[in-house]
Amino acid sequence: MGNEKIPFLDLVTVHRGLQGEFIEILKAALKTAGFIGGPMVREFEQDFAEFCESRFCVGVGSGTDALRLALIAAGIRTGDIVVTVPNTFIATTEAISQAGARPDFVDIEERTYTMDPAKLRQYLEAKCTWDKKLKRVFHRETGNPVTAVVPVHLYGQMVDMDPILDIAAQYNLKIIEDACQAHGARYFSKRGEGWRTAGSMGHAAAFSFYPGKNLGACGEAGAITTNDEQLAQTCRLLRDHGQSKKFFHDVEGYNGRLDAIQAGFLRAKLRHLKKWNEQRREVAERYNKMFAGADGSLVLPHQPDWSRSVYHLYVVRVTDRVRIQKHLDEAGIGTGIHYPIALHLARPYEWLGFHPGDFPIAEQAASQILSLPMFPGLSLDQQTRVVNEVLKSVKVMHNTNLSRDDASAACDH
Ligand SMILES: Cc1ncc(COP(=O)(O)O)c(C=O)c1O
Repeated sequence: MGNEKIPFLDLVTVHRGLQGEFIEILKAALKTAGFIGGPMVREFEQDFAEFCESRFCVGVGSGTDALRLALIAAGIRTGDIVVTVPNTFIATTEAISQAGARPDFVDIEERTYTMDPAKLRQYLEAKCTWDKKLKRVFHRETGNPVTAVVPVHLYGQMVDMDPILDIAAQYNLKIIEDACQAHGARYFSKRGEGWRTAGSMGHAAAFSFYPGKNLGACGEAGAITTNDEQLAQTCRLLRDHGQSKKFFHDVEGYNGRLDAIQAGFLRAKLRHLKKWNEQRREVAERYNKMFAGADGSLVLPHQPDWSRSVYHLYVVRVTDRVRIQKHLDEAGIGTGIHYPIALHLARPYEWLGFHPGDFPIAEQAASQILSLPMFPGLSLDQQTRVVNEVLKSVKVMHNTNLSRDDASAACDH
């Protein structure tokens, strides 16, 4: 087994095999100089809507654009409160603020790290009042209407959506799924609908195609999916300065369009996404098996039986993260932390007045989570080395040195 560095994410190898196809896409774009909008964007939108089992897809400039425009198109207005979780990338709350709303939080579920539906219900029951006449719920302390919820499908795994759909229906809330890390993730709905795909369950959903995502562009890109034709139409207006026809502006909008070349690249990569997601699932299963002998000082990702995660990240939990991450770094193994600061304690949200201890599960997770190398094509040799170094550093096994044969035998069971 060599000692070459193992990156946290290898974006180079995956693109090697796509070079020829990408050059043809560039040539096609140069031939027509159709760099913005046009058939390449429309074709990708159609394919991605189909992939997400959603009726409409609107390509935009980034995942942040997708969240912001979806919130505005869903009717979120200045002064509204939009509820999300503290354990997410800051783009979730930036988009809420940029839509004019005030972000508020409920804690996460301990094992999945995603929104705990029971905490959402508790928030609405304990902190809010239902106005029968207006059919809206108001935050008691601030008096602001709570109008939407943003469940974040984190690390490739969907939120437990059935109870969130029930709560949202009861309290007249819009649901905007943050699916930026969950392209192709699935959820088994007990509402009689069976397996559903991320991006098809809320009023709208936001996807990021940042290069490192399961479906990544070669630059910035994002998309909104929705089953609501009117909402899709409003997003189309908003992404293009509010114009329905060149220089005829119905509303004030944004520059939030998807590049044609990126749409072309994304469409080519989308054909591989199911296979890549399957490979990520295999990598995750191998990690699970190889770590099977570890004790409680290493907590593995939890996939409930209603979930089919696409493992955007493989996140473990350790008590002595600083030391373990340093050990892995010295062994040439890349890791990440997603995310080190629970957002209610992040500097831009000081004005919201939260304190340490307000969302204890998210706070504890933020101090213990560690993302290990995860990408399609991570080899058994590489994985064996990662596992050995992790086990060595958490000191959870007496015999810490798994050979490649041991590892592959462990994976055969
Ligand atoms: C959970 C989450 N939400 C939103 C975003 C924002 O996406 P983008 O970087 O494309 O704007 C990201 C991407 O990093 C994300 O991981």
